[in-house]
Amino acid sequence: MAAFNTEQVLSVHHWNDTLFSFTTTRDAALRFHNGHFVMIGLEVDGKPLMRAYSIASANYEENLEFLSIKVQDGPLTSRLQHLKEGDTILVSRKPVGTLVIDDLRAGRNLFLFGTGTGLAPFMSIIKDPDTYERFEKVVLVHGVRFVSELAYSDFIQNELPQNEYFGEVVREKLLYYPTVTREAFRNTGRITDLIETGKLCEDLGIPQLDPAQDRAMLCGSPAMLADISAMLDKRGFEVSPGVGQPGDYVIERAFVEK
Ligand code: A2P
Repeated sequence: MAAFNTEQVLSVHHWNDTLFSFTTTRDAALRFHNGHFVMIGLEVDGKPLMRAYSIASANYEENLEFLSIKVQDGPLTSRLQHLKEGDTILVSRKPVGTLVIDDLRAGRNLFLFGTGTGLAPFMSIIKDPDTYERFEKVVLVHGVRFVSELAYSDFIQNELPQNEYFGEVVREKLLYYPTVTREAFRNTGRITDLIETGKLCEDLGIPQLDPAQDRAMLCGSPAMLADISAMLDKRGFEVSPGVGQPGDYVIERAFVEK
């Protein structure tokens, strides 16, 4: 298992029947950019069974945090959902990924569009003080089917704005817009429709998306990425062609088939 570190599970939180998160120890040599993912997994029948997971903790935090769905017959998550404090997991040593603010051109407002567990990398990004230095507003849009899937909403609304180091800039710049598609909530509808109708920006009291000034990061299902990318392309946004090559937006698939 030389390619992997063994980390200890420190805490587990079950959001509902289908979603949970957990924290682990972090190898002192593990370095990453906020928005990166790693391979994590378990040893099964003497072999590592690994899947990609975005890191939900920020790169200055002592521990690692991950957000996962529970798939009852999923090779990994059927096992992972039973993790308990003190268990061990494998974590790859080379975090990677395209969802990094360094690959965005300078801009006015940053839109973070995430569906389901696609929220995870944005947790890391909204805990990064650099994000707020680079943009006037940071708009976190989380689309889910059910209210119980709005993971971390209490942290985002009540804890992060009280952060002792950068709470003030969070209060000034972070706009959180959770939206639910399959039951009643204060915001409803798919992100695509909320952009297309202009409702998202109207509700938030900010200008509509403008490729000359605004930037975006996308993380969700392949269909969500395709639809939002097409909408942004039509408006004149240019996707970053790859790591180290700046664009108006960057995308990463939320890794769900576990
Ligand atoms: P919906 O309930 O209308 O399918 P999932 O769990 O399937 O990834 O979905 C998470 C959230 O993303 C749901 O609110 C879902 O809406 C929404 N969604 C699914 N496909 C798309 C898409 N192509 N564009 C925008 N939102 C989507």
